Amino acid sequence: MKDAEKAPFPHQGGRARKKRPSRTRDNLVYAAVWLACAAPLAWLAFRAFTGDLGVNPIETLVRQLGVWGLRLLLVGLAITPAAVILRKPRLVRFRRTIGLFAFAYVTLHLSSYIGVDLFFDFGQLVKDILKRPFITLGMAAFALLIPLAVTSTNGWVLRMGRAAWSRLHWLIYVIVPLGVAHYYLLVKADHRPPLVYGAILAVLLGWRVWRAMRPSP
Ligand code: HEM
Repeated sequence: MKDAEKAPFPHQGGRARKKRPSRTRDNLVYAAVWLACAAPLAWLAFRAFTGDLGVNPIETLVRQLGVWGLRLLLVGLAITPAAVILRKPRLVRFRRTIGLFAFAYVTLHLSSYIGVDLFFDFGQLVKDILKRPFITLGMAAFALLIPLAVTSTNGWVLRMGRAAWSRLHWLIYVIVPLGVAHYYLLVKADHRPPLVYGAILAVLLGWRVWRAMRPSP
């Protein structure tokens, strides 16, 4: 969800100019990222239309949308470490697309829960938020995602100023742990899957802490 233009472009300025990747190649890579993000949704829609969502299709739908939302949030968090470690700064231009797709999946996750599971019973939703801790955490994560999605455009970066915009986007470090905790609390038997996502999150956050604390060269 961070701004695409923030990437340091090594080909601009300096004596040793690197060749800029062609616009066609750039567009193809961008289309591939877009398709990779949309593919799980298309596959889920196909399975829904062909009646292939198993014995409890509503549960499968809600859960699959949730798990893809969480995966994309983690992929978004992995972009900066990948860009630094692989020395590919231009990777950061995909953060916004990936973040917006994560938001779309989580919105569909919430909508399918409200529409297909609760039949738009908003009173029940309020009761769930108050009484079921995993729903409380999920809802908190969703509410915090909204300002990030709204301010994801270049216009908002200019309006807010880069520093304030970056500070707001620190919310992602609260949102993703809330998403993992939401998952952990709703699982009744096998806690391994949410723990695996939690471990990935710990590595991604740990890398940032390590980088911030290491002495500057
Ligand atoms: C950032 C926000 C959220 C994330 C990342 C997220 C993620 C997830 C994940 C990973 C699962 C489990 C999928 C599985 O079992 O394979 C899940 C399940 C679920 N989530 Fe969320 N979720 C979020 C927000 C919400 C919200 C706002 C609600 C409703 C108010 C909600 C309601 C549910 C329900 C009802 C289930 C299924 C529980 C069950 O079948 O027992 N989630 N979510």
